[in-house]
Amino acid sequence: MDIVGNVDELRKHVYDWRGQSLSVGLVPTMGALHDGHMALARRSLETTERTIATLFINPRQFGQGEDLDSYPRTEEEDVEKLTGAGVHLLFAPTAQEMYPNGFSTGVAVSGLGDILEGAFRPGFFDGVATVVCKLLNQAAADIAFFGEKDFQQLRVIRTMARDLNIPTRIEGVATVRESDGLALSSRNVYLSAEERQVAPALYQTICDVATKVKAGAPPAEAEAWGSAQILAAGFASVDYLSVVDSQTLEPYVDASRSGRVLVAAQLGRARLIDNVAL
Ligand code: PAF
Repeated sequence: MDIVGNVDELRKHVYDWRGQSLSVGLVPTMGALHDGHMALARRSLETTERTIATLFINPRQFGQGEDLDSYPRTEEEDVEKLTGAGVHLLFAPTAQEMYPNGFSTGVAVSGLGDILEGAFRPGFFDGVATVVCKLLNQAAADIAFFGEKDFQQLRVIRTMARDLNIPTRIEGVATVRESDGLALSSRNVYLSAEERQVAPALYQTICDVATKVKAGAPPAEAEAWGSAQILAAGFASVDYLSVVDSQTLEPYVDASRSGRVLVAAQLGRARLIDNVAL
């Protein structure tokens, strides 16, 4: 696997591949790779002829007081995993490469980016949309792969790519879970052994909420029940547990449309998010 740190070198590889009519896949990450990331890489390797992974801990998507400084960094292991999987190129730029002095452009997906996760982490989706817009332009891949674990992020990115006519296809990949249901996340390392026992209650509860709504329970009632369950299991707080329309992420009112249960809750140092389809 080649490793490059600047956009010119990245583009040289891509132009070379394009010259050979090879299709290109992109797997954006912030590193600390787990099997969820590797599922994205595998999907890209199956679907396209050349795969680029990116590793960039994007400062613009961390708010004040969030974990930018302590975000897990495991670059050596990440390189080993990507190499072992057969990824062709790693783009690992510095913050200066991505945001040179004088950088003054931002991308915001209003509406979708302001609710749920966006309401609790103001500016988060502006940071995500800005960096992903840059990565898509830099790599000019045919397809880019993102996990469904970050369901709202996936919706924001799809909307951004559509609105800005970015030709890269955005593909979602199913969440990878531990055997007890906990969704894989780089931030799971923040959980103590005791908290790790409690954590699967999040997934279990949203599955139960989905079952209740499908059986006809009013979404608001199921949401209140679910939040109480999560607190009773030992979580410190629930930022939101919402049954929403899968497209608009607005409250779920039309049972003929596809719905999703989204949750964010705090457990010790870890703020866990998860979601399931109705
Ligand atoms: O999901 C992530 O890891 C990040 O938000 C992403 C998409 C790599 C942008 O920094």
